[in-house]
Amino acid sequence: MPAAVQISEVGKTGGSSTGVGSRDKRTATHSHIRGLGLRSDGYAERDAAGFVGQVAAREACGIVVDLIRWKKMAGRAVLLAGGPGTGKTALAMAVAQELGSKVPFCPIVGSELYSAEVKKTEALMENFRRAIGLRVRETKEVYEGEVTELTPEEAENPLGAYGRTIAHLIITLKAAKGTKKLRLDPSIYEAIQKERVRLGDVIYIEANTGAVKRVGRSDAYATEFDLEADEYVPIPKGDVHKKKEVVQDVTLHDLDVANAKPQGGQDVLSMMGQLMRPKKTEITEKLRGEINKVVNRYIDQGVAELVPGVLFIDEVHMLDLECFTYLSRALESSISPIVILASNRGLVPITTSRSSPATTDASDLPPAAHGIPPDFLPRLLIIPTHAYTPDEIASIVRIRARAENLAFAPEGLDRVAQLGAEVSLRYALQLLTPASVVARMGKGVEAAKGTQITVGVKEVEEARELFLDAGRSVGVQSSGLLGA
Ligand SMILES: Nc1ncnc2c1ncn2[C@@H]1O[C@H](COP(=O)(O)OP(=O)(O)OP(=O)(O)O)[C@@H](O)[C@H]1O
Ligand SMILES: [Mg+2]
Repeated sequence: MPAAVQISEVGKTGGSSTGVGSRDKRTATHSHIRGLGLRSDGYAERDAAGFVGQVAAREACGIVVDLIRWKKMAGRAVLLAGGPGTGKTALAMAVAQELGSKVPFCPIVGSELYSAEVKKTEALMENFRRAIGLRVRETKEVYEGEVTELTPEEAENPLGAYGRTIAHLIITLKAAKGTKKLRLDPSIYEAIQKERVRLGDVIYIEANTGAVKRVGRSDAYATEFDLEADEYVPIPKGDVHKKKEVVQDVTLHDLDVANAKPQGGQDVLSMMGQLMRPKKTEITEKLRGEINKVVNRYIDQGVAELVPGVLFIDEVHMLDLECFTYLSRALESSISPIVILASNRGLVPITTSRSSPATTDASDLPPAAHGIPPDFLPRLLIIPTHAYTPDEIASIVRIRARAENLAFAPEGLDRVAQLGAEVSLRYALQLLTPASVVARMGKGVEAAKGTQITVGVKEVEEARELFLDAGRSVGVQSSGLLGA
């Protein structure tokens, strides 16, 4: 007799809820960076994982990564300090890569904290909590096995309209100790389609929530000619219906959001399966306090484990005194992530309150190193970054051209590299794409045929004429060519 699973609601399952997700796009300019490029003894290769030079800073970041992994780093802060375009943001991205997707990494830019709707300390707090992970081990009642049958049973649409509706879904799962035929609620069908489950996949369905998780492809199919890279897994041991330990990685912010409008159960664990689209419900200090209490209890009971991640604040000179005071207090709390700051400023005045735009220039604070208050600076481990040599710039330009899939003639790349040394690395990297577009112009037919068009010195020069660098732009302005 087919067992029935009653499903009330299908929530989003596990996956990448560690707060990175939608924020990834910003890192496109660093897509060639795949890690810090360190050897197993901790020393840096000159050119590895997309990273060139900046050896000492990479090694220092490697130590930071180790400290984070050993959980010796929570509540501390690191400052990456160096001139523009010396790879500070790239280093932070590399740290994120090294830590892997299970450790939360929350990148923000100092100026993001200023918004008319949200208080800046509130925004800081939210990002702090995005950077603190919780690994929860939960024993769940599941149905797990290889899918050997997947049949939606249709019914006439009761409203008589065009089309049919799905009455229920028949699914047969095979495990080592037998098979089970389940008749499921149609809402699960959507979840199954979302996970792209096909025959021969190994999946599990949570009995209480109806959440579906695809584990991988059954290794019985491993010999089959398959173009996609797929993960093959053995047929699950034991019965189809069983208790299974499920590990979920969430951030404290995920929990705040899920609990801001409680649905169903009262405790955090029952909320785990219900992490849905972020709702715009107010997260209060009181709610956070309650969540902390529950989280601490689960940690004490050994059900959950705290995973302090990284809060990366780029352009830290944008923060004002209030933010810094808040930061030092937050770093001292028992649940805190590692904070990595970056700044390309030397001695500048500390930003004063931005709450009223009219007072932005009325700075009565003395200049401070990196725009960081002198009582906060000593808390930081400072990692300096240095300017690149022409050789290093040439290597970076080459890596970037390859990453953007642009075909350059060697002389073309040499010219870009030369500009990188003369003007700035950033300018050189920005010229790559325009130069390749210039090369494409006027070669419509060839380009349409899909012939690779190589970019030479001429095209680079043309792009250089079209797009000014900062220095030349200032020159044009002050010579009055752009009008008064
Ligand atoms: N050592 C390196 N190896 C490879 N690519 C690098 C290296 N350093 C910088 N880059 C690349 O050069 C560009 C500029 O570097 P990045 O944005 O990290 O500089 P930054 O120090 O953060 O500058 P700013 O102070 O202006 O923010 C990025 O595309 C980055 O990925
Ligand atoms: Mg930067």
